[in-house]
Amino acid sequence: MTTSFRVTYATLSADNEELHTAYETGAARVREQLGFDVAAPGDDEAGEAVEVRSPADPSVVVCRVRPASPAAVDRAVAAAKAAFPAWAATPWQERLEVLRRCADAISEASDELAALMTVEVGKNRLEALGDVEESAVFFRYYSDVMAENQGYEVAMDTLSEREQTRSVLKPHGVWGVISPFNFPAALAAGPTAAALVAGNTVVVKPSLQGSATAWRLHQVLTGAGLPEGVLQLVPGGDEAGRALVASPDVAGLTFTGSYEAGMQVLRAGGSSWPRPVIAEMGGKNPTVVTASADLDAAADGVSRSAFGFSGQKCSACSRVYVDARVHDDFVTRLVERAGAVAVGDPLERTTYLGPVIDAAAVERFRDAVAQARRRGAVVAGGDVLTGDALPGHYVAPTVVTGLPADDPLLGTELFLPFVAVVPVSSLDEAIGLANDTVFGLTAGFFSGDDDEVEEFLRRIEAGVVYVNRPAGATTGAWPGIQPFGGWKGSGSSGKAGGGRYYLGLFMREQSQTVVQR
Ligand code: ALA
Repeated sequence: MTTSFRVTYATLSADNEELHTAYETGAARVREQLGFDVAAPGDDEAGEAVEVRSPADPSVVVCRVRPASPAAVDRAVAAAKAAFPAWAATPWQERLEVLRRCADAISEASDELAALMTVEVGKNRLEALGDVEESAVFFRYYSDVMAENQGYEVAMDTLSEREQTRSVLKPHGVWGVISPFNFPAALAAGPTAAALVAGNTVVVKPSLQGSATAWRLHQVLTGAGLPEGVLQLVPGGDEAGRALVASPDVAGLTFTGSYEAGMQVLRAGGSSWPRPVIAEMGGKNPTVVTASADLDAAADGVSRSAFGFSGQKCSACSRVYVDARVHDDFVTRLVERAGAVAVGDPLERTTYLGPVIDAAAVERFRDAVAQARRRGAVVAGGDVLTGDALPGHYVAPTVVTGLPADDPLLGTELFLPFVAVVPVSSLDEAIGLANDTVFGLTAGFFSGDDDEVEEFLRRIEAGVVYVNRPAGATTGAWPGIQPFGGWKGSGSSGKAGGGRYYLGLFMREQSQTVVQR
């Protein structure tokens, strides 16, 4: 397999001046375009325009979205259905040529796409550039996997010399992709890339709050030479999403979002036969710190994981179980790091933490802090941040201690820069508490003892686990390196975006036996 994606990953460094200059040029171009319209083509019945405003400064209108009508969703599905036979019949090598061009087109547009993402959802520049680059890497990586498997046609054994059997993996048809605001490029691009590599055609319904980024990404992809109809985008909110899910012509779906919405998609009807639904539904990700751990590494990892993109990653760490003997030392280190986080305008080079996505998230923060004060202690942060330099939805990175182990704040996904630390008396207790949740997405572990590491890896119930990773205790999976997917309530079984088995979920097996005449 090619490893070109590793090179691009390494260039995402804070010291890469070329990257900063390009991003700033992209940001200047984005500022000139803000306020553009997003609408399904020819949608006379579209809903009233909704303004998407920057969470960093709500006086800035990023785009105006006309939510797609159910009729427009049906038209998009019909167009994708019409394009399906030719795309599925295109030799996989030719499909890959187009899809690798899509990857290059994303990389070429990355400065503008990343800056737009920063304005639209408040993601800081390095993380926004990473999100866009990850989108390109998804196209390259799944293309590599397809090439490595030579189109998934395999000769089987035979019981008779006159009979030959092949196993062939074939696409399903029209694939629906419902994507979230927090990775507005990568989590639209990842499933789209896999579906297209496999030979499906795709209709994307992005989150309303990530509409501008998804729209520009869509323009980049369709401009890179995808045949007419193969990729469609329908903008809007829940209504457009429901219309897509309800369509009998949608043969498979990928959903990324909340547990509640994901369960609705999994239970929804639509097709006349069972169809694949790949659902990724959040997490309440634990990190366990034992007495043998390097506490500075653990505090670095938890801080990056809990506060990166304001805790608005499904992979974010939000609860830490620490050996009681080192609890206070660990908390001191984590509080230091929380206090040192650079909060501000996410377009600025020095900003680590931008705003949370909207006013509702700020209210959720106020409520969680009030609860934490009643049942435990807020030892860092806890404030909603305001002032001339912070006109948007800003909250302070927050550390909470003293909550009972069964506190609701330790069971509910908050999607905020809010982390709770709980002392434990043994590794057994820590792993038990870490697993005691409906979720099972990511988990982190810090220890200096190989036996402890082995026990953690044997017992932890999560799809993506990291041991001794100061760069992000539970976050930062990269396609082709960390296959990403949840267990239990974090996702439907079997999926792992960015892993070797993911493509197979977008295809169905046909056993072809031909008897010689
Ligand atoms: N790929 C993202 C992470 O692992 C979701 O943090």
